[in-house]
Amino acid sequence: MTETEEKVNQARELIESASHVVVLTGAGISSESGVPTFRGQEGLWQNFRPEELATPEAFWKDPKLVWEWYDWRRNAVKDAKPNPGHYALAELENNLENLTLITQNIDGLHQMAGSSNVTEMHGNLWQIRCTKCGDIEQNFEVPLGELPPRCKKCGEIGRPNVVWFGEMIEMSLIDSVLKAIEECQVMLIIGTSGVVEPAASMGLVAKQANKPVIEINLDETPSAGLYDIVIREKSGEILPLLFTSNRTLS
Ligand code: OAD
Ligand code: ZN
Repeated sequence: MTETEEKVNQARELIESASHVVVLTGAGISSESGVPTFRGQEGLWQNFRPEELATPEAFWKDPKLVWEWYDWRRNAVKDAKPNPGHYALAELENNLENLTLITQNIDGLHQMAGSSNVTEMHGNLWQIRCTKCGDIEQNFEVPLGELPPRCKKCGEIGRPNVVWFGEMIEMSLIDSVLKAIEECQVMLIIGTSGVVEPAASMGLVAKQANKPVIEINLDETPSAGLYDIVIREKSGEILPLLFTSNRTLS
């Protein structure tokens, strides 16, 4: 048996004996769907880093530039289809008493794969929120016409309905995630570089609560040393092996 097969088996056993699993996903789970990640070579957009554009300051300084970036991201995601990793998690939701699926992604691919209960920590790319009246519009237009887009109700500038650096994630959302980690029997962390808070600390919270943590990520991450099972493979290849029976690694 290869080392990966052994780890997959261990991870499967943990998951099979659990009634409540918490899953945290990041951009890596969507990369096999062709959605660019943030960090790493293909993750860059015209030499800007997300930290330079995904802030309220950047938006108010140059709303058009920030919207151009989101327009580019909407275009990059518009034809993306969920991959076997997303589908495996959707299937897990059906086969498990309790699955808490938390994503930092704003691409909507978990929902498209059939996951019905998704906690979107960083918002959603397909929603535009008015900066004045707060109205939220679902909008799938690509590319968007006029940038920045205007609110259909009051005419003010709209912004992406996402969480930017320097903005707070709703406390009730954080509370529910912490509660789920406390109650679960195992946590999976998939395709996230583990450098953006508060998501980055969720694995540590789980370890402090003595929960086994499984990480699936192509590259090294800062907290991997603390986790119980670390699988350095593509999530689209590993996740289907974890949750479906009768499958072996080729
Ligand atoms: P990153 O782009 O920082 O990290 C993606 C991780 O996925 C990297 O560690 C890759 O090695 C790994 N990866 C890539 N392809 C993979 C695959 N097929 N299978 C498994 N792993 C793979 O993305 P996030 O950690 O999600 O926030 O980024 C966190 C936040 O930073 C984002 O939500 C966004 C960004 O700035 C905001 O915009 C607020
Ligand atoms: Zn408005």
